[in-house]
Amino acid sequence: MERTATGIPGLDALLRGGFLTGSSILIAGGSGCGKTILSTQFIYNGAAQYHEPGIYITLEEGTQNIWWNMRSFHWNITKMQQENLIKIYRVGMFNPKEFATQFDQEIEKIRDMVSEMDAKRLVIDSTTAFAMFMTSESEIRYNLFKLINEMKKLNCTTLLLSETMGGRDQFSRFGVEEFVVDGVIALYFRPPVRAILIRKMRGTDHDKYVHPFEITPNGIEVNATEQVLWESLAK
Ligand SMILES: Nc1ncnc2c1ncn2[C@@H]1O[C@H](COP(=O)(O)OP(=O)(O)O)[C@@H](O)[C@H]1O
Ligand SMILES: [Mg+2]
Repeated sequence: MERTATGIPGLDALLRGGFLTGSSILIAGGSGCGKTILSTQFIYNGAAQYHEPGIYITLEEGTQNIWWNMRSFHWNITKMQQENLIKIYRVGMFNPKEFATQFDQEIEKIRDMVSEMDAKRLVIDSTTAFAMFMTSESEIRYNLFKLINEMKKLNCTTLLLSETMGGRDQFSRFGVEEFVVDGVIALYFRPPVRAILIRKMRGTDHDKYVHPFEITPNGIEVNATEQVLWESLAK
């Protein structure tokens, strides 16, 4: 099966080469755990190392903030921008009364952007922010399921970010995201230790240990040989 490598040092080995191409992966973790950095690096590496166009969809932060964050690393962002290999798209506020219609319109827009750029990598930052516009739990479940299914049809390898309270057993905010995706990666921050765990990856073997990682001037670097004890992570 075809793989989409993250290009993140240490991580692809744990994934046995990368994500299965076209799969949807939840990146779960508390605030400040590195979800946005890992995902921008996935998009940047796709463009810089594999010449694959990528789209970063943000509901959390403005596009300028995401560009600024990417520029804080030793990455050649300008070149990727000029070659039109990276696009950052901000989803605006929804009107709660017209949510269903506007939600469908946004999905349509994302679809158009993906085919226009022939994007191979997609990030949605975050499913948690999407749910802010929904009023009941059943609405959240229904729409998240729909969103993930629509992304699936695009056949892009898609990262969906989910902000948890940071506990080691928490992989989503609403308890539904982790079941509809193909894979789950959990990020932890127990100061000063940052750690990563591949919690689930449908259709492939993967590493099962918690590993430390660092955020360096080049981005995230996973230490695939060292381990962090599960018991040491916050409950
Ligand atoms: N250029 C950088 N170099 C080192 N660490 C950084 C850099 N930028 C951000 N960080 C660290 O990463 C954290 C934010 O990561 P981020 O991916 O935005 O978290 P999340 O999206 O999970 O909330 C910051 O709180 C900081 O500790
Ligand atoms: Mg973030």
